[in-house]
Amino acid sequence: MPTTSLLTPYSLGHLRLPNRLVMAPMTRFRAAEDGTPLPVVADYYAQRASAGLIVTEGIWPSRAGQSGWRMPGLETMEHIIGWRGVTKAVHASGGRIFAQLMHGGRQGHPLSRLTGDIPAGPSSVPVPGPVHVRDGGKADSVTPRAMTREDIHQAVRDHVSAARNAIEAGFDGVELHGANSYLIHQFLADNTNLRDDEYGRRTTEDRIRFPVEVVKAVADAIGAGRTGLRLSPGNPQFGMEEAAPGPVYRNLVRALDGLGLAYLHLTDNDAYPALTDLRAHWHGVLIANVGENREPTSRADGEAVLLTGRADLVSYGRACIANPDLPHRFERDSALNAINGDHLYTHGAIGYTDYPPLGIPAGSQERIESV
Ligand SMILES: Cc1cc2nc3c(=O)[nH]c(=O)nc-3n(C[C@H](O)[C@H](O)[C@H](O)COP(=O)(O)O)c2cc1C
Repeated sequence: MPTTSLLTPYSLGHLRLPNRLVMAPMTRFRAAEDGTPLPVVADYYAQRASAGLIVTEGIWPSRAGQSGWRMPGLETMEHIIGWRGVTKAVHASGGRIFAQLMHGGRQGHPLSRLTGDIPAGPSSVPVPGPVHVRDGGKADSVTPRAMTREDIHQAVRDHVSAARNAIEAGFDGVELHGANSYLIHQFLADNTNLRDDEYGRRTTEDRIRFPVEVVKAVADAIGAGRTGLRLSPGNPQFGMEEAAPGPVYRNLVRALDGLGLAYLHLTDNDAYPALTDLRAHWHGVLIANVGENREPTSRADGEAVLLTGRADLVSYGRACIANPDLPHRFERDSALNAINGDHLYTHGAIGYTDYPPLGIPAGSQERIESV
């Protein structure tokens, strides 16, 4: 039987991936209050080292970008030391790992931020509805402060500094989070960027200015080959509105094509078929995520994307949470574990590192105590 495309190796720059399956970034709230990843985070990612590439959960580059309590950071020496334990464990298990840098922008609440202040975004437009805050609570969202030019320049510097910290912590590269309603996405979307300056809504060039500046600055600092970008054009998550994503994202992708970035990670959705529309404008490596706001990505979904040439690699989110050995399961056509939805966002090992690998029945694994 010929091997399927998902299970064939791929060269991503100097990294040799044993398969084309990428673990998608997923927030899990397993950090200490200061943003240092807990020891159990190293176990979690090491268990998943058979993925071609792991992209971590979103990590705030600076406290100004913190969008949730007990999300991890990459700002301090404690953070670097904590993440070094993670990258060492993943590399020792034969894996490869990028850090996702996620600046929350308007996302966030004083009750969920170490600074305790109101977050800032491109414009003073709040997230609709109540938001999750620390310790499982909910609160009305706050109206963010509109970023000054100096805030914008500082956000670029913060991404650069966090990217350098990521390399110091042993990551193979960083993925800049330009998707799913966070800061970079807020500059791109219609309703969150009402600015009239050179970072604003007047022209497409203005709208993409901040995203392009961040990507270029990080690529200059750590190398384009170690810098990836994630985009989710048209994703309405957390009240994002993009009436016509095509022109904005085509321009953005064209502006970045040719920089030699490690990859573009595109999430497709029902509102806008990003993979089909943008492929022609991007000549570098493309990672597809086809599950956003849909059923969890299946093996068949991934194979179809590869077969039709819409991407080089496919990222899997929920299936990787529940199946630490997903490539092996695909290889053997084995059943998948069900996801434990009750513990996605709790802080310990339960529902995190206790999913059994193939051949080990649930419950017989040594439990790593909750931390
Ligand atoms: C628990 C959870 C947390 C997530 N956190 C992030 C995140 O931090 N950064 C990000 O870019 N996407 C995040 N996502 C989106 C996933 O990366 C992925 O796009 C989504 O799960 C769809 O893929 P799937 O169908 O394979 O699960 C998250 C998804 C889940 C289920």
